Amino acid sequence: MKIVIVKNSKDVGAKAAWLVVKEIIKKRDLVLGLATGGTMIPFYRSLIDLIKGKKIELINVRTFNLDEYVGLSREDRRSYYYSMKKNFFSKVAMLEKNINFLDGMARNLDLECENYEKKIEDAGGIDLQILGIGRNGHIGFNEPWSSFRSRTREVFLSDFTRKDNSRFFSSLSKVPKRALTMGIATIMSARKIILLASGKSKAGIVHRALHGRISEDVPASVLYKHHNIIFVSDKGSASELD
Ligand code: PGA
Repeated sequence: MKIVIVKNSKDVGAKAAWLVVKEIIKKRDLVLGLATGGTMIPFYRSLIDLIKGKKIELINVRTFNLDEYVGLSREDRRSYYYSMKKNFFSKVAMLEKNINFLDGMARNLDLECENYEKKIEDAGGIDLQILGIGRNGHIGFNEPWSSFRSRTREVFLSDFTRKDNSRFFSSLSKVPKRALTMGIATIMSARKIILLASGKSKAGIVHRALHGRISEDVPASVLYKHHNIIFVSDKGSASELD
């Protein structure tokens, strides 16, 4: 694992955005796995600036987002689709057909997940996956004790994650209890991964994920086994690393 430590969350976003743009320049039809969450906001800002500034074509780029809440529609401001639309898709020239998202309103959720895996496969697999890390070590919505062999599926969110994410909802009771997420094996199949973290509140889990045992109780610890991963962190989240 290559580790890059920068000053603050804005620099984490800028560094990661630059790494993504370099991949798009190398492969115009890049298959890009995307993530949501607070850490990603500066990343999308920088990515949009770079795409516009350097006139990067996204017409052939295909994206697959990691996860979505069950029961929230695309029009719901709290859904991950809405957040992606607002923070990224509406600001760049991408083809709608190239944007892939799990549908948390699908009538048959198992089939939805199965089809998503198939779509990833048909696209030739994910070239580059962007990833955040939850304070409990989750990646995507793969909570502690998710199987390292898991694929895209419906999951129950932990109380910890629901509480953490309640900042985006009017109250804890409004945070969905279920979600759809790419599995850990799905994430690990990406040819390259960029993991982003920022802020002191992530320092403990970053230390556990990178220095602790590789174990299913810390899903992000699996990333240590990936052969092509860059971890971009700010000083805060890297503050407990040796
Ligand atoms: P955050 O979420 O960026 O809002 O901390 C990260 C995650 O849960 O993956």
